[in-house]
Amino acid sequence: MDADLVVVGSGFFGLTVAERIAEQYGRKVLVIDRRSHIGGNAYSEANPETGIEVHKYGAHLFHTSNERVWEYVNRFTAFTSYQHRVYTTHKGEVFQMPINLGTINQFFRSAYGPDEARALIKEQAAELDGKTPENLDEQGVNLIGRPLYEAFIRNYTAKQWQTDPRDLPASIISRLPVRYTYDNRYFNDRFEGLPVDGYTAWIERMADHKNIEVKLGVDFFDESQPISKGNVVGNVPVVYTGPVDKYFDYAEGDLSWRTIDLKEEVLDIGDFQGCSVMNYADADVPFTRIHEFRHFHPERDYTTDKTVIHREYSRFAEHGDEPYYPINTAADREKLLAYRDLAAAEKSVLFGGRLGTYKYLDMHMAIGAAMSMVDNKLAPYFGKGDALV
Ligand code: FAD
Ligand code: NA
Repeated sequence: MDADLVVVGSGFFGLTVAERIAEQYGRKVLVIDRRSHIGGNAYSEANPETGIEVHKYGAHLFHTSNERVWEYVNRFTAFTSYQHRVYTTHKGEVFQMPINLGTINQFFRSAYGPDEARALIKEQAAELDGKTPENLDEQGVNLIGRPLYEAFIRNYTAKQWQTDPRDLPASIISRLPVRYTYDNRYFNDRFEGLPVDGYTAWIERMADHKNIEVKLGVDFFDESQPISKGNVVGNVPVVYTGPVDKYFDYAEGDLSWRTIDLKEEVLDIGDFQGCSVMNYADADVPFTRIHEFRHFHPERDYTTDKTVIHREYSRFAEHGDEPYYPINTAADREKLLAYRDLAAAEKSVLFGGRLGTYKYLDMHMAIGAAMSMVDNKLAPYFGKGDALV
């Protein structure tokens, strides 16, 4: 193998590392992924029946306030002016999310100004009377009062976690933002938009470099092929973005994850719900939300007689499921510390990305973290010949 660096995983973390080392340091990078496509969870493809771009692993919205990341991603794609907004259905009525003055006034059938609404929520949130919240239910009441918590948060969270919120730790929610304006823009970041030609075009441009070779359908733990852990580690530096527990063969136990199931449907109507994301706040609806992909790109000339939706269901991940969101129990955090020690001691292997660090990372965070790894670890190694630690 003539690669200077092997990157395991072609998600945004792995591709950012690969692109920087190939372009900035002129080194040869070999990227492998066990999936049949690049891009990790941000991968999207045109639905064959309708041509509508579908985010295969769940809807992905790009947003960042990090100027360096924004400048970097704009080298590979232009962004539309899409601004994300989310609605929620509760007892047969549709409300704006996140909870804002519009939600509050509709819910209480009122016309409160900001100060009146703030006073009302403060009074409702005082129900625990200074007692420390002992579970998620009490925490929710303590943050926004019982009426809003029970309508919009309680059952939605129960569905996400498949657990009664009285049995969930208070720490899952540290804050529940309530806006005392009518602003219902979902993200507060300075920069937001969707890639004009789609995620896959963006991702392919990152990998399109003479010093980068991508091999798909290659599992790093498959010792029957040449780019495996056993064959590579110790010979060529590795950036590993797969699950950290898997790398060490679960020696410290499994880290727990939530996963989602997405049920895709093509419907014979032009517009199903009038928005890209509709949450379902109530317990009697088994899914958490419906994504309708045409609404992510209103500027595109999509067919007007069909539409594509994903119903999203949430559950605990088993071995073999795609790990999506770290659950982060106290036991997980203890195992993670042990894995971090093992990772630090694993010579010439760097662990990164959401799976390699057991951290939920938005795309801009994964890209930013990859740039930091290049700055702090790989630049000294490739640029100055320092040891890789
Ligand atoms: P990944 O994209 O997961 O890439 C890791 C890659 O490693 C995968 O392709 C995997 O196949 C490969 N791999 C793993 N093990 C092996 C192995 N043994 N051998 C070879 N290859 C291997 N971010 C946003 O900014 N906005 C959003 O709206 C958003 N929505 C999301 C919705 C969902 C449901 C999820 C799960 C994530 C969402 N994200 C969103 C986060 C975004 O997907 C991540 O930031 C991004 O995927 C992180 O990239 P990564 O490279 O760390 O990991
Ligand atoms: Na290491």
